[in-house]
Amino acid sequence: MNLKSALSALLIGVTASVGVAHAQAVALKVEADKPGAKIDRQLFGQFAEHLGRGVYEGVWVGPDSSIPNTRGIRNDVVAALKELRVPNVRWPGGCFADEYHWRNGIGPLKDRPATLNPNWGGVIEPNSFGTHEFMDFVQQIGAEAYISVNVGSGTPQEAADWFEYMTTAQPTALAKQRAANGHPEPYGISFMGIGNESWGCGGSMTPEEYAAQLRIYARYTRNYNADHPTLKIAVGPDSANTGYTEAVMKAWKERNWSWDINGLSLHYYTVGAGWPPKFAATGFGVEEYATLINYTLRMNELLRTHGAIMDKYDPEKKIALVVDEWGAWLAPTPGSKEGFLEQQNSVRDAIIAALNINIFARHADRVRMANIAQMVNVLQAMILTDQDKLVLTPTYHLFHMYVPFQDATFLPVTFDAGTYASGDIKLPKLDAIAAKGKDGKTWLAVTNIDPTGPAQLELTTRAKRAVGKILSAPKVDSVNTFQAPATVAPKPFESKSSGNKIALKLPPHSVAVIALEQ
Ligand code: AHR
Repeated sequence: MNLKSALSALLIGVTASVGVAHAQAVALKVEADKPGAKIDRQLFGQFAEHLGRGVYEGVWVGPDSSIPNTRGIRNDVVAALKELRVPNVRWPGGCFADEYHWRNGIGPLKDRPATLNPNWGGVIEPNSFGTHEFMDFVQQIGAEAYISVNVGSGTPQEAADWFEYMTTAQPTALAKQRAANGHPEPYGISFMGIGNESWGCGGSMTPEEYAAQLRIYARYTRNYNADHPTLKIAVGPDSANTGYTEAVMKAWKERNWSWDINGLSLHYYTVGAGWPPKFAATGFGVEEYATLINYTLRMNELLRTHGAIMDKYDPEKKIALVVDEWGAWLAPTPGSKEGFLEQQNSVRDAIIAALNINIFARHADRVRMANIAQMVNVLQAMILTDQDKLVLTPTYHLFHMYVPFQDATFLPVTFDAGTYASGDIKLPKLDAIAAKGKDGKTWLAVTNIDPTGPAQLELTTRAKRAVGKILSAPKVDSVNTFQAPATVAPKPFESKSSGNKIALKLPPHSVAVIALEQ
């Protein structure tokens, strides 16, 4: 299935779930007069690491490929990603970033060295997708660049040279090299990650050791493009561990004039339990569904915990908490290559995405950027590819439905979330966020977490109708495949008001995103 047929399959929808509220309907109200923080569009960022078939095959096929491409970058993937208005792409890793040497990835393709990717399957890294190809890619999809520099096995000089190469307009030797490689104009790099998981694959540093490196990298790694500022993001906590949060924020508070940062990163994956990840991506039932949803909701607590530590050092919330790796990390697809982190993507993943984005939105004053892991063919991907074929995942559709929330203003919603119980696990049955969009409309996203029954809601509003899309699925583990690409696809949703009420009925395990219209 190509992108055109994948998108046209979505149009074959029916108006879904228009219902009359009955006596047990959950009352819902949007508090339009209590606007909160901006839901920064950067919360919808993506992550493209040199890992498995994420970059090679998923994005880059090379200029000589029979797969339609523009300067080596797949046209179908670019077209699909443009629809998502991807705000930023984090690259080149991940763990890969701390072993990446940028000079290997510039110059004529034929002259680039083959190196190794020891983190991810020990495969050959051809270095065909380097700085210029990445910048071409983000420009093709209309995103901003988030580049992580190598702190683990690189040097401050190497990182400083990379930023000079990319950003200076002065005729330095590095700028001349960039021009000779086809880009005389300086690039604009919006975000710089100073290392990745320096507590683990990025060098196994203690918080204090990392803080010492951070001061040096943050000092010497400069953006020379005054027209395009770069925000610097430090490595922060792994899940609930607070050591890095304390140490980096303390170092920042005690900083002198010579260095600064703008963000602190948090990594938290929805794994379920134990390591390596063993929850199946398909063929699961409601118990595993509930376990993973429960696990993902811990994001709430993590943001509260790390947010409270940050408040101690930074009550003005100058430093953003940047959740630059999040999403479901499941057992790999049977038969896929070891270390390639390939997994299918079900309606459960879409619900995981909705719940996390809702949590980010509720913490939007501090959480101003996030990157789902990852973009194509890796972990909780937007897109799966097989040679020239492409399939859009339920997570892709969820991100597409949430586009109106980019840079929208948070509005509180009052409702009784109720309870869905599975064994010992108790989950909210419902989740909802609302926002005033940049289009002036009030947008509401409602998730029925319950996989066993529909949700009936009654919205009190002066609006005449609610119009949007609903993402539902026949089964709790429904996925899209190359053979059946639209099993989980959004369908039109509409409900008209009666008096000052609009009835909304959501099928089990579904998400609706609607605009309230007069
Ligand atoms: O996203 C896969 C890996 O997960 C990243 O490379 C690393 O940062 C994290 O542990």
